[in-house]
This record gives sequence, C-alpha cells and structure tokens, in this order.
Amino acid sequence: MIALGSDHAGFPLKEAIKKYLDGEGVEYIDCGAYDTQSCDYPLQAEKTCLKVLNGECEKAVLCCGTGIGISMAANKVKGIRAACCSDYFSAKYTRMHNDANVLCLGARVIGEGAALELVNVFLNTEFEGGRHQRRIDQITELENKY
Ligand code: RB5
Repeated sequence: MIALGSDHAGFPLKEAIKKYLDGEGVEYIDCGAYDTQSCDYPLQAEKTCLKVLNGECEKAVLCCGTGIGISMAANKVKGIRAACCSDYFSAKYTRMHNDANVLCLGARVIGEGAALELVNVFLNTEFEGGRHQRRIDQITELENKY
C-alpha cells in the first residue's frame, strides 16, 4: 500500500500518479489535497507520512510545486527518509543506498512522463543493505540526538 499526498501545486501530478498506479494495480491511500485550492504542504506531508509510520503504507509519494518544501517537512517526521528527485538515477539509488521511504516530486519542475518513471523505479527498487544500513543507523542516531 502506497500513501499519496500533495499540496495544491502538486495536486495535478498526484492525480496522474493515481491513474498510473491504477493501471499498475498498485493500491494507494490518497491523503489529499483533493483539489487545487491553496493548502499548506507541511500539513499534507505530516498527514501522509503518518500512514508510513503507523505501518498502513510501506512507502509514500509526495508532490508540491518544487518537491522541496514537502520533502523538508517530511524529513522532520522521525523515521521518514524523504528524497526529492528529478532524475531516474537519484530515484533508484535513494532506494538502494538510502532506503528512502518517501519520494518527493516537483510538479512544476518535471513533466508527468518523467515523474511516472521516477515513481516506477522508486517503488520497484530494493534497499541494498550491507554497509548502507550502518549509514541509515547513523541518520537515525542524528534524528534522536537533536
Ligand atoms: C506553493 O505555491 C509552493 O510554494 C509549494 O508547492 C512548494 O513548491 C514549496 O516548496
């Protein structure tokens, strides 16, 4: 199960992602926004990330205008490793090396076609573990330290 969230700027891309996931037979929970009325990305990030924290969803995809604000907010939630990506390599390696559990996309930055490729590789790439796990543990230590 995948959690989806956006603000007003990310709403159109989130809708495109929903259509894509429907086609792939991937189940999701839509945490809003539900239209293009202005709303605040930190609140949308929190609502969506909680679905990952409580185990209802294994990963989340968040969209705002740049992908940046919503990723900053998501990364304040303990246990969330959110990566704002615009390219295929980053979306793949943030799974392999960072075990990212949230992908953030900028609806005003990349086109829909590219975004769907990033969603696809993000959802279908496994964490490599090994030496990378040690570094993930160090991220968690930082999270608990400050
Ligand atoms: C909303 O206008 C915009 O600021 C937001 O979607 C996002 O780009 C913030 O990082």
